[in-house]
Amino acid sequence: MKDALLAKIQDGSAVVAVVGLGYVGLPLARHFIDAGHHVIGVDTAADRVAMLLRGECPLGHLPGDWVAPAVASGHFAPTTDFGMLADADAVVICVPTPLTAHREPDLSHVRAAAEAAARSLRPGQLVVLESTTWPGTTEEVLLPLLLARGLEVGSGFFLAFSPEREDPGNRAYSLGDIPKVVGGVTDACTEAAAALYGRVCARVVPVSRPAAAELAKLLENVFRSVNIALVNELKMLCDRMGLDVWEIIDAAATKPFGFMPFYPGPGLGGHCIPIDPFYLTWKAREYGFSTRFIELSGEINTSMPHYVVTRVMEALNDRGKTLRNARVLVLGAAYKADVNDLRESPALRLMELLREKGAVVRYNDPHVPRLDHGPVSLESTPLSAEELAASDCVLVATAHAAYDPDFIVQYASLVVDTRNMTRHVTRHRDRIVRA
Ligand SMILES: NC(=O)c1ccc[n+]([C@@H]2O[C@H](COP(=O)([O-])OP(=O)(O)OC[C@H]3O[C@@H](n4cnc5c(N)ncnc54)[C@H](O)[C@@H]3O)[C@@H](O)[C@H]2O)c1
Repeated sequence: MKDALLAKIQDGSAVVAVVGLGYVGLPLARHFIDAGHHVIGVDTAADRVAMLLRGECPLGHLPGDWVAPAVASGHFAPTTDFGMLADADAVVICVPTPLTAHREPDLSHVRAAAEAAARSLRPGQLVVLESTTWPGTTEEVLLPLLLARGLEVGSGFFLAFSPEREDPGNRAYSLGDIPKVVGGVTDACTEAAAALYGRVCARVVPVSRPAAAELAKLLENVFRSVNIALVNELKMLCDRMGLDVWEIIDAAATKPFGFMPFYPGPGLGGHCIPIDPFYLTWKAREYGFSTRFIELSGEINTSMPHYVVTRVMEALNDRGKTLRNARVLVLGAAYKADVNDLRESPALRLMELLREKGAVVRYNDPHVPRLDHGPVSLESTPLSAEELAASDCVLVATAHAAYDPDFIVQYASLVVDTRNMTRHVTRHRDRIVRA
């Protein structure tokens, strides 16, 4: 079984099914298509599948020109029909892993996708989970569902975990350049999964078991969350001490070893860093273990929007104004620069908090023409000299490359900058408050 699968992978004839066509699944599908494979893309969202079938790419930051030719040539078959999984030699699951309302892991999408894979499982198939999750998920959740079909793992079928390291909007790295960690349930599973990723990644890093790969991914994200919390705390201290945290980080970063710069901001955003660490916290509880670094960094990072709003209030106060009825223009709604992704964006939390305090909130984001988030339902305001001048405060939440800091500072009376976007502005520096 394994040799037949390996041969198909190596000669490019293996059909790959990608379940979940989002930020992770779509770029992956594209790489397999580019490597010559036929790809079946299965998604529950009928509108997304319809878009893809029309040849359109639903993700703003990805070039979409590959979709139409891939669909037309039959190399890419987007569908909502899970029965198509039976045609695949490898099934890669890239569905969301959010938190529940009680901030506990929500594996419902993973479970649903794994059940679908189990229904279609046939001898010789490889199943890989890519969704970020707690260590143990592949063997405790997926494996029993697949074993129930009566095949043996490692010979009848193959199962592995391989975390995604996609960084949307990052032009320096794409899937092909980033080493891919792979942990199979058996050695044969690791070998099959490593061969599959060897088709699209320059380097595959095998580890001993799926849980090691699952935890490696969480370590990467906990590492970011903890270090961002550390610099956020340092920023608050620096503000009190009258020191410039950005200057200090840049100075420390000249050390050629043992230091890696992280930068403060208005809070954590995106689908990964604010959420994934809590998958580990949840699993650790089963072992009577409390992950204190994760809890503390979560506490600091979620308090940042409150801190920023306090800085806005103080800055207005220094100018004889109150936040109540102040006109605040928030620049950037997406959680990071140059993407249109609003998931967990601290800018949304900032807008909520500013509104609660009675501010009149508007926003501009060249990538997000309109947003509907809870009570906030707004359209992006054009970033004109008049709009800047009419605002009591311009709050930089996300430093999109499209923004011209000199223009913004020239027309605004007050700029509260959470991203150090205005660092090179030389004129009217008295209008800038860093927060
Ligand atoms: N976005 C990132 O940068 C990133 C990076 C690394 C890891 N991850 C992880 O990858 C996983 C996927 O994240 P994403 O950002 O691609 O999510 P996404 O929301 O962009 O896309 C998920 C897709 O899965 C579909 N879907 C949901 N349930 C499904 C089901 N049962 N069957 C088939 N399709 C289903 C959705 O309709 C959507 O199209 C998550 O576990 C995430 O933590 C994301």
